Amino acid sequence: MSKKTALITGIAGQDGSYLAELLLSKGYTVRGTVRRASYPHTERVDHLLKAYDERDPQCPFKLMYADLTDVSSVRNAIEECQPDEVYNLAAQSHVGISFITGESTLEINALGPYRILDTLRRTGAKTRYYQASSSEMFGASPPPQNESTPFLPQSPYGVSKTTAFYLTRVHRVAYGMFACNGILFNHESPRRGLNFVTRKITRGIASIVTGEMQTLALGNLDAKRDWGFAGDYMEAIWRIVQHHEPDDFVIATEDTHSIRDFLKDTFSLVDLDWNDFVMCEDRYKRPAEVPALLGDASKARRILGWKPKTTYRELCQMMLESDLRAKGLTMESARVLAQKLRKPSRTRAYPANVVPMAKAS
Ligand code: NAP
Ligand code: GDD
Repeated sequence: MSKKTALITGIAGQDGSYLAELLLSKGYTVRGTVRRASYPHTERVDHLLKAYDERDPQCPFKLMYADLTDVSSVRNAIEECQPDEVYNLAAQSHVGISFITGESTLEINALGPYRILDTLRRTGAKTRYYQASSSEMFGASPPPQNESTPFLPQSPYGVSKTTAFYLTRVHRVAYGMFACNGILFNHESPRRGLNFVTRKITRGIASIVTGEMQTLALGNLDAKRDWGFAGDYMEAIWRIVQHHEPDDFVIATEDTHSIRDFLKDTFSLVDLDWNDFVMCEDRYKRPAEVPALLGDASKARRILGWKPKTTYRELCQMMLESDLRAKGLTMESARVLAQKLRKPSRTRAYPANVVPMAKAS
């Protein structure tokens, strides 16, 4: 078992929670940063907080306060836990919202990594640094995308992640630091934030089945994404950091589906036709879109021996089951409830500001 210490920024996020579980299972001492405002919202790691006694100085799992916009808090976190490995997962991670909060997105996602890298450089320690880079950096570059594909970011988020990608490389090249990038394609789970499209859909279906919601409003349904399971991807990033030399890797399933496909494949699990429930609203469309993501993860397969375990269909099922379970339902009981919702024909009256997808061009 390892005696290493890992510092995970953004531990209360989707990926942070899965990575913490993985590293604890490997014997690591795990320290994770949360922001002041996140503290009451630690649902994804509450099971870990309960399992370990934080008052014990040797406790393998502890949270600490740090904000990537506050360099003193970044330094404190690094000085206090003296990590062997830093996994920088903290970010303003919503692409759509980055068009509204561009400045803070750049501040957190681009300057935040710089603050960590600069602090690590000054300590002179041999700490390994992992940067959570993103397929959003490929933007308008046509699929399939791999490590050689040009970056053409389409959003402030994409630009912020591209900047952080290059800052990570610069620290590797200029100072010989062990600084690596994982270029991860979309990965989802029952712990996915509520305003990302997959979770919005599976939670929406659960609310429709229980009668709490009648319709689900979405934006562009034509975009395609290479969706994997977040748990599988944490194993990949751990392998990136364990590799004998720092490098950059694409992590993806090599399978792509449109939002429309995801709607069809999840609504059909409870025998419903998504066309009867989904509305298209302009407010969920973005000023610029990344039309199609499909990763080529052959380098990770070849060098790291990594491949995803969970299929797209298993992911759809896992996410919907979890959202149904939160409402006291199983897939079977949801199907029974859904029978009453099946529409014989699409003759419903829609509010003036929404267009039923079946009629939208
Ligand atoms: P997430 O659920 O949104 O988690 C991000 C975490 O960062 C949150 O816990 C958030 O804390 C924290 N954070 C935000 N601003 C911060 C700041 N100023 N200082 C410190 N912490 C801050 O995102 P995720 O899906 O787990 O993704 C993890 C990382 O991978 C992100 O960097 C994301 O951009 C990147 N990524 C994700 C995907 C994907 O498909 N999931 C793909 C490629 C790359 P609060 O709870 O306080 O907001
Ligand atoms: N969020 C959201 N909400 N997206 C919608 C909606 C909606 O109502 N309707 C359609 N979409 C479309 C978006 O326009 C986009 O094309 C696609 O669904 C996926 O959107 P998100 O789930 O928000 O993910 P993303 O691809 O923009 O970004 C995620 O993946 C990146 C990696 O490629 C995030 O996790 C990023 O942090 C990550 O870097």
